[in-house]
Amino acid sequence: MAEFALPANSKIGKGTSWPVKSGGKNVRKFNIYRWNPDDGKTPQVDTYEVDLDECGPMVLDALIKIKNEVDQTLTFRRSCREGICGSCAMNIDGTNTLACTKFIDDVKDEVNIYPLPHMKVVKDLVPDLSNAYAQLASVEPWLKSKTPPPPDKERLQSPEDRRKLDGLYECILCFSCATSCPSYWWNSERYLGPAVLLQAYRWLVDSRDEATGERLDNLEDPFRLYRCHTIMNCSKTCPKGLNPAKAIAEIKKMMIARQG
Ligand code: SF4
Ligand code: FES
Repeated sequence: MAEFALPANSKIGKGTSWPVKSGGKNVRKFNIYRWNPDDGKTPQVDTYEVDLDECGPMVLDALIKIKNEVDQTLTFRRSCREGICGSCAMNIDGTNTLACTKFIDDVKDEVNIYPLPHMKVVKDLVPDLSNAYAQLASVEPWLKSKTPPPPDKERLQSPEDRRKLDGLYECILCFSCATSCPSYWWNSERYLGPAVLLQAYRWLVDSRDEATGERLDNLEDPFRLYRCHTIMNCSKTCPKGLNPAKAIAEIKKMMIARQG
């Protein structure tokens, strides 16, 4: 196996190596970004060897094994371990994805793991999502209706209207898409990014919602919506197979339709 090497101008240091304890036959190296805000050191990449014959098949299995058996200080988020909570999103092998649904065997050779790009880091693989959640709150992702609900049943939708939410309601807010988007990297204070805009569209097309005009007014801004330049990284990277770029394009079409 080639020795893990950082670029010569990298500000990240080569960290500690943790060899596998006993002679495993199916050993893989995991190079993992480490940064602790409390120790005053620059970030580093630690290398952990894991015997895959004694590990589950997913990258998250390896991270949990490392934390349980090798280095308890390794920090990452996870909860559901089946691709529905969105908390284990990170950059694996150069792509933002979910550690719990990413097969180790899908990565050739060593497995490089970094936090989601261009976010502040809380510690190790944990990104600071404060700005992203504030942006989500700004689009008010809940049903807004002045019409009172029927007294004896739920607010109903036709099957056709319900189908308009397919490809939107499945979003697990992992922010893999937003953090793969160059426009979001450079303008994340003002551009909402693909994850939040997909959520905005999810409510714009909900037949039960009565705040469409207000929602579009809220997005009508050179940065909040129009910093999307259809680079399409978002749709390429989404681990749930969703298409945030299409949702953004649909919002732009709604903007045009109401002008004409
Ligand atoms: S659209 Fe996909 S990548 Fe983006 S937040 Fe939702 S699930 Fe994650
Ligand atoms: S742990 Fe929930 S999506 Fe990975």
